[in-house]
Amino acid sequence: MKISYNKLVKISLILIFTVIFAGSVVRMTGSGMGCPDWPKCFGYLIPPIERSQLDWKKSHRYKKGEIIIKNKTLRVAKNDFVSSSIYEEENWSLYTKHDYADFNASHTWIEYINRLLGALSGIVILFMTITSIKFYKINKKIILISILVLFGLIFEAWLGKEVVDSNLKPFKVSIHLIGALIIVFGLTLLTYLTDKKIESIKTNPIINKFSILLLVMTFFEIILGIQVREFVDSKIDLKGNSAMNIFPFEFDVHRSFSLLIVGLNIYFYRKLKKMKLILPIYNFILFLIGLEIIIGISMFYFSFPFLSQPLHLLVASLLFASQSFVVFKLNIKK
Ligand code: HEM
Repeated sequence: MKISYNKLVKISLILIFTVIFAGSVVRMTGSGMGCPDWPKCFGYLIPPIERSQLDWKKSHRYKKGEIIIKNKTLRVAKNDFVSSSIYEEENWSLYTKHDYADFNASHTWIEYINRLLGALSGIVILFMTITSIKFYKINKKIILISILVLFGLIFEAWLGKEVVDSNLKPFKVSIHLIGALIIVFGLTLLTYLTDKKIESIKTNPIINKFSILLLVMTFFEIILGIQVREFVDSKIDLKGNSAMNIFPFEFDVHRSFSLLIVGLNIYFYRKLKKMKLILPIYNFILFLIGLEIIIGISMFYFSFPFLSQPLHLLVASLLFASQSFVVFKLNIKK
């Protein structure tokens, strides 16, 4: 089966959205440390399902890197060996990157599925980059952007390891999210450039610049949201109503700024309509903004309902991608 380059770009984009969603489910369920090591999970390609699998066993064949839990610490097999009838310390080294040594099957598997989705998107993006070579004579920019997206993903995979090693430091989690948005931006640009059915729109420079301003505003709102999330992460026990009184100043700005986003996007939409520039994607953008605000309100006033955090993040990423698409349509001639 021959898959076109454009289809590969679209599949990559969908996969990145699922990775962003899954990453947030990991955070919501506190599964980030479900796999203590990286890229394997407890030293296995397919992680354990029961705590007993991580107990030391006699006459057992261990492979280098496999992990057991001993005296509430993680021990890593130094080499391949078969255990004797007693535990021998010299075969094991203490896992020193962090001291988290619990096993929770659902946390482990949520984190593992998140990693599988990441790996799958890596494979598809690698394939997409290789396929981009066919644009060598037509448009070298496409090859360059594909390579940048691939490097972005490699950086994200490396950062993912750093995040686990740092026991989920909020700042690193935030950089990880911004990296994902840059990849979304690159893939949206590639979708626009390589889909023959999509045409650019000619209009005046003020409208073009306005679309960029709206995108920058959404990016700023996302950065503010990330700060609110860093705060929530540091006060995890105070979710919901009890958190209302102590939410930081950034939250007030985040909440109020969304009103400016609504107002200016409605204004822009009406302006486009008046100029007979019907962009069906703008209905979708307005829908996403409305949905995002409803989810935001539900988190704040109704104690973070189930899945509200991953949905808030997913909708923000979809909004960012859709607005980037409008910017490309208005500002990049095809
Ligand atoms: C266009 C509007 C909005 C956008 C694009 C947006 C985007 C974001 C983003 C990207 C995050 C960080 C999520 C994460 O890192 O997991 C966030 C967090 C948050 N936002 Fe918004 N947001 C918007 C409106 C609102 C509104 C109106 C409210 C409340 C009235 C709100 C409440 C929150 C809260 C409570 C958090 C912390 C969530 C958490 O800890 O998972 N947001 N927002």
